[in-house]
Amino acid sequence: MAECVAASEAAIARAGELIREGKLVAFPTETVYGLGADASDEKAVARIFEAKGRPRFNPLIVHVADAQVAEKYVVFSAEAEALARHFWPGGLTLVLPRRADAKLSLLVSAGLDTVAIRVPAHETAQALLEAAKRPIAAPSANASGKVSPTQAGHVMESLGHSDLLAMVLDGGACRLGLESSVIGFPQGIPTLLRPGAVAREEIEAVLGGRLADADAAAGEAGRASPGQLESHYAPGAPLRLDAAEAGPDEVLLGFGPEAKSSMNLSASGDLTEAAANLFAMLRALDATAGGKRIAVSPIPMEGLGEAINDRLKRAAAPRG
Ligand code: TXA
Ligand code: MG
Repeated sequence: MAECVAASEAAIARAGELIREGKLVAFPTETVYGLGADASDEKAVARIFEAKGRPRFNPLIVHVADAQVAEKYVVFSAEAEALARHFWPGGLTLVLPRRADAKLSLLVSAGLDTVAIRVPAHETAQALLEAAKRPIAAPSANASGKVSPTQAGHVMESLGHSDLLAMVLDGGACRLGLESSVIGFPQGIPTLLRPGAVAREEIEAVLGGRLADADAAAGEAGRASPGQLESHYAPGAPLRLDAAEAGPDEVLLGFGPEAKSSMNLSASGDLTEAAANLFAMLRALDATAGGKRIAVSPIPMEGLGEAINDRLKRAAAPRG
């Protein structure tokens, strides 16, 4: 059983030691909680896949303290540098060519010649990076295919029983509540591999041009972002999307002032608030649905609505 402790200075120092010993520590970021391990330790990274029960080796995001550290592991293009300067620290991940001399586990790249890298803004994540003195590989801290955790209690529910997880640092609820946006450059073209915490429009404004879509980039190499499985982020209860109202065997997850529901992603129709509430409300409804289906109000396809609709579509997909 993992211990769940408030993210005090002493707890973070101990968590840093655990990371250096090759153990797993869950920690808060501004997006979701991550399941962290020393990204330079092959065995520690392998434990992440084991603890999550990932069906195959999807590549992981490597977290570092700043862009200067990132340069030890990946090669920045001018566009990548502009994005890093504008959005780091924050909810944006860049998939960049892996340096030949990068002292990183091979499993974090899962056989690709790229590394996904991110500088988190959360003070606990930053303090942990400093205490561990290591790059930290971290997927969302949930069992594979399930809803991502936005509170320490969610991590305990999902992975707390695992002997592989040494510690959960409790830093309260995640501010953004959605995973980072993942940008790659297949064939040199800036591409939105996963919509997430930073809206497409903001990224396009910095690039001064449109982001390509992952589907177009997938090509013969298969998925550009291997983690984008069809069924993902799935609660136990089935979902029905774009619902005007709930049927007799349904509970409604509403959005906007019109929705007649006990749970509303944002009664004022604010997409940032809806993103922050999404995973916690799916969990809460799932726990009380009692065999009912979850009907979800339509969410506009603008700003963070793109990422919210992406997660809802996957949560509603047929289970594999
Ligand atoms: O907000 C987040 O991104 C959270 C926090 C903990 O940082 N992490 C997270 O990690 O969501 P994970 O492992 O659940 O998702 C990583 C995504 C997956 O879709 C994966 O396929 C993609 O990034 N990815 C990682 N490395 C990649 C690479 N080298 N090339 C393409 N896609 C990559
Ligand atoms: Mg995940």
